Amino acid sequence: MTTVETAPAGPATDAPTRPWWRDAVIYQVYLRSFADSDGDGIGDLPGLTARLDHLTRLGVDGLWLNPCYPSPGADHGYDVADYTTIDPRYGGLPAFEDLLRLAHERGLKVLMDIVPNHCSVAHPWFVQALAAPPGSAERERFVFRDGRGPDGELPPNNWTSVFGGPAWTRVTGTNQWYLHSFDASQPDFNWRSPDVAAHFEQVLRLWFDRGVDGFRIDVAHMLFKHADLPDWPDLTEYNAHQQNQPEVHDVYRRWRRIADSYHRDLTLVGEVWVPTVGDLAPYLRPDELPQAFYFDLLLCSWDAASFRTSIGRGLDQIGSTGATVTWTLANHDVHRTVTRYGLVEPADTPVQNPARLRGGVDAALGERRARAALLLLLALPGSVYLYQGEELGLPEVQDLPDEARQDPTWFRSGRTEHGRDGCRVPLPWRSDTPTYGFGDHASWLPQPAWFARYAAEDQWAEPDSTLRLHAEALHLRRRLPDLLAGTELRWIEVADRPDVLAFRRGDLTCVTVFGPEPFTPPATWGDVLLASTGSQSGQLPAASSAWLLHSVHPNPAA
Ligand code: NOJ
Repeated sequence: MTTVETAPAGPATDAPTRPWWRDAVIYQVYLRSFADSDGDGIGDLPGLTARLDHLTRLGVDGLWLNPCYPSPGADHGYDVADYTTIDPRYGGLPAFEDLLRLAHERGLKVLMDIVPNHCSVAHPWFVQALAAPPGSAERERFVFRDGRGPDGELPPNNWTSVFGGPAWTRVTGTNQWYLHSFDASQPDFNWRSPDVAAHFEQVLRLWFDRGVDGFRIDVAHMLFKHADLPDWPDLTEYNAHQQNQPEVHDVYRRWRRIADSYHRDLTLVGEVWVPTVGDLAPYLRPDELPQAFYFDLLLCSWDAASFRTSIGRGLDQIGSTGATVTWTLANHDVHRTVTRYGLVEPADTPVQNPARLRGGVDAALGERRARAALLLLLALPGSVYLYQGEELGLPEVQDLPDEARQDPTWFRSGRTEHGRDGCRVPLPWRSDTPTYGFGDHASWLPQPAWFARYAAEDQWAEPDSTLRLHAEALHLRRRLPDLLAGTELRWIEVADRPDVLAFRRGDLTCVTVFGPEPFTPPATWGDVLLASTGSQSGQLPAASSAWLLHSVHPNPAA
């Protein structure tokens, strides 16, 4: 077999003082589904704090907490009523301070989630705005407009909510409407109001002063809308009037200055859904966001060519800004990785997000592929975000009873789109209790009986488990300088095997077999350090990855 190295993708970015976040692995905690300490069926901060061992043992560098501010909970915390404190249902500010201190003692970074596009209808500013007349300073903080039609009975424009239905709700008994790009309970702020900009700068400072290490920024691309709010001609396509306006970049320049002024390597990671990687890159200019999720790879199906193109695109285009790529394959908004990669019979139901396709799943195949994807991801240059439960190989719960569903997408789509509840079902910790160790009482979303098979404690005891693979890979990654030092990635062309993806970083080679046939790496790639599925006599099975290490650079043309 002939293997040839191709030109490096992306620049080498090794700096003498490399901020931790450039290569960090962060674990996303969807708090209400992590661990319940007080038996109300909802995960909380003391529950998380009591299980920090899980994260340390896993070997992640920090955690990102989904919003846990006071909130009516229409979108489980993404409808914020007060940005300055912690919801008592999660333990309040004292529980947060405990978590922060104990996480820091273990060397774990803690990122909060900031939600600047919208708040909750229960936020005092929105309550005041509704009570104030049209044109008032109170209404100016949001996007109120007169309706169209003789009595203003039609919305001001044709925009739609991301969760389905119109993006406008009429103020009862008046001809004014307010804009909500998500649920009607989440009014959009008007970012042209100086009050709004000033408020969020204070909020950032408040939490940085309390000691947090950064923020994930919710829908970071949406804050500004086209100033005239014009109709969008074709709503089946990305509405470029409702998001990604040039003014948003000034916000992140200011936020970056605030973060940098602390001299603590604080990070800001944007959730930026834009049509192309070329649209994403400007958010990562050196004076803007340190990080932004790279969703391009998350949207790829299990296919070597798509993965290679997407990885190359990320390294080239994000790398050209000087930032590293923030890789991720899962979060609380998409179907779990195992289910996406194991989807063998996609159902014919339209969904707005291709990462939420439903259908028949081969969970064993999906888990093998997800394990392979993990090794691939952890070998790439940049940082990685993992979503809770990913380390357990947990599949999506596709068959939640309809009456249990809570995602606003389900309601606003007229109960046609199941939405995101299936990836938010509370975690199984043990196989022998009714809530699988989540808490003392039934959890807020029902856990299926098959969750027992994925329980964390059982997996810690099982050497070949998906959890143990995650821990081994994460601990090994920390000991492999080539994976952390910004060492460039060089693709290896594998003759006659388009389904095999291989690249080298320094002395380490990562190889992934996407197809159904096994593959034997040439001896020059070195010895297998870690394989996602047991390799036999040097042969890597279908749907698997391995890391190989050699101490002497082989002749690329050999
Ligand atoms: C993106 C968040 O990830 C999602 O969960 C939330 O529903 C929307 N933004 C609205 O805040």
